[in-house]
Amino acid sequence: MQKPVWHSSARNKLPLCYNATGMQNINLSHKIQKYIPAEVLDIICATARLAQKHGQNLYLAGGAVRDILLEYQATDIDLVLEGDAIAIAQQLAAETSNNIILHTEFLTAKLQLPSFNLDLASARRESYPHPGSLPIVHPADISTDLRRRDFSINAMAISLNEESYGQLLDECDGLTDIHNQLIRVLHTQSFRDDATRMWRAVRYEQRLGFQIESTTKVLLQQSLHMLNSISGERLWYELECIFGEKLPEKTLSRAGELGLLHYIHPQIDSHNLLGTWYDQARQMSLPQKPEIGLYLALLLYRLEAEECEKVAKLLKLNKNLSRTLRDSAKIKGSAALLDDITLPPSFIYHTLCSYDATAIKASLIASTAENVRRHIQLYLEQLRYVKPILSGKDLISLGIKPGPNINALLNHLLDARLDGKTSSREDEIRLLELLNWLV
Ligand code: CTP
Repeated sequence: MQKPVWHSSARNKLPLCYNATGMQNINLSHKIQKYIPAEVLDIICATARLAQKHGQNLYLAGGAVRDILLEYQATDIDLVLEGDAIAIAQQLAAETSNNIILHTEFLTAKLQLPSFNLDLASARRESYPHPGSLPIVHPADISTDLRRRDFSINAMAISLNEESYGQLLDECDGLTDIHNQLIRVLHTQSFRDDATRMWRAVRYEQRLGFQIESTTKVLLQQSLHMLNSISGERLWYELECIFGEKLPEKTLSRAGELGLLHYIHPQIDSHNLLGTWYDQARQMSLPQKPEIGLYLALLLYRLEAEECEKVAKLLKLNKNLSRTLRDSAKIKGSAALLDDITLPPSFIYHTLCSYDATAIKASLIASTAENVRRHIQLYLEQLRYVKPILSGKDLISLGIKPGPNINALLNHLLDARLDGKTSSREDEIRLLELLNWLV
C-alpha cells in the first residue's frame, strides 16, 4: 500500500459513484485497466471468455474491488463465477499453461502465476455447522455470495461479463462505507459465525486508516468470547497476516485496546515500547522485512518462559517459532551474565552461540541494560562469524590424532582468536606448541 487512503483525486471523483445505486451507473473499467497489471488482466479476460462460452457470469470480487476503488494497485485477485469454477479453472490452466491447485470441496481453484495470486471460486452460500468451524459451501448466485462476506467494503464485485463489463455491484453499500472510511459487518451474527473477522476488522481499520463503525464495534465487543472458538492454526494465520502489514504495531495496539490480545494471552499488552521495538526490528532487517518470529518474540517478550510455552501451544506454532520463543525467554533469563563490561568475547560467544539468531535479535532490541545490548550486538555483528584459522584437517595433518581432542582443540583455538590472542595460522600453531600438542 503506497498511497494514502482516498487521496484528494479519488475523493473528487466520488460524487459520480455516490449518486448511483446498483450496477448500472458506475463503470470501473478504466480503474481495472489502471490498477491490475496487464499480464493478470490478460488471464482475467481469458477466464471471462471461457465463462461466456459456458453461459456463466464472472466477477472480480472482494479485496481487489476495495483496493481498486481506493486507487491502490490490486495485489490478489479473487474471481467469482456463477457456475462451475473447478471446470473453468482446469480449462484455463490448459489454455494458459499455468499450474492450478484445486480445492474441490470449497469449489475454489488457485492459479499459480509468477508474482500474483489468482483465485477462481464458484459463487457460494456458506453455512457454519457450529461457531468457529470452517463453513460448508453450497453453490449460489453472486448476490448471495457477496452477502455472506465479512465487511461491506469487501462485499462488492465488478462485472467481467461482456454486456456489463466494469459495472459495480454494491448491494451492501460498500462504496458509502469506503467514502465514510468505515469497517462495517453485514449482519449481527457475523463475528459469531466467524470470530477471525474481529482480527480482520482491526487489521483493515489500521491498514486503511478507517474506523470500525459504531454498531460493528459493539458487536465485536459483545462477541469477544467467541475468539475462544477459533482453532490455534486460524488464530496464528490472523497474526501472520498482521505481521505482514507495514506497521503491525498499529493493529496490535488497537487489538489490545479492544480486548483481542487478551485471547492470545491475558498478559500480552501492546505497550508503548512495541512500536519502537518493531521500528528497530525493521531497521535491523533491511532490505528485507523482519522475520515473523522476530515480531512474535518481541510481542511476547515480557511474558515468562512458561507463559510463552502456553502461547506456542495455543497457536500450534512450528518447531522453529517455538524455539525462537523459548530461546528468547532463556536469553532474557541469563541476560545478567552479560551485564559486565569486562567480559572476554569468548564468554559472550559461548553464552549466546547455542541460541536461535532471531531470539538473540529480539533480546538485543528489548534489553535495557547497556552492557547486555553492547555484548549481544558484538556477538551478532562479529563474534558469531569468527572461526579458528586452522581446520580439523589441518590439525590432523599437523600430527594430532583424530578423535574428540580435535573438537576440544578447535574450541580452544576459537576462544584464543575471539579474545585476540591469535590472529594468524602461525599464532595458532604456536599456541598448539605451547599446549604441548605438537612436538
Ligand atoms: N472473507 C470473508 N470472511 C473472512 C475472510 C474472507 O468474508 N473471514 C471474504 C472477504 O470478502 C474478502 C475475501 O473473502 O475480501 C478474500 O479474503 P482475503 O484474501 O483474506 O482478503 P482480501 O480482502 O483479499 O484482503 P487482503 O488485502 O488482506 O488480502
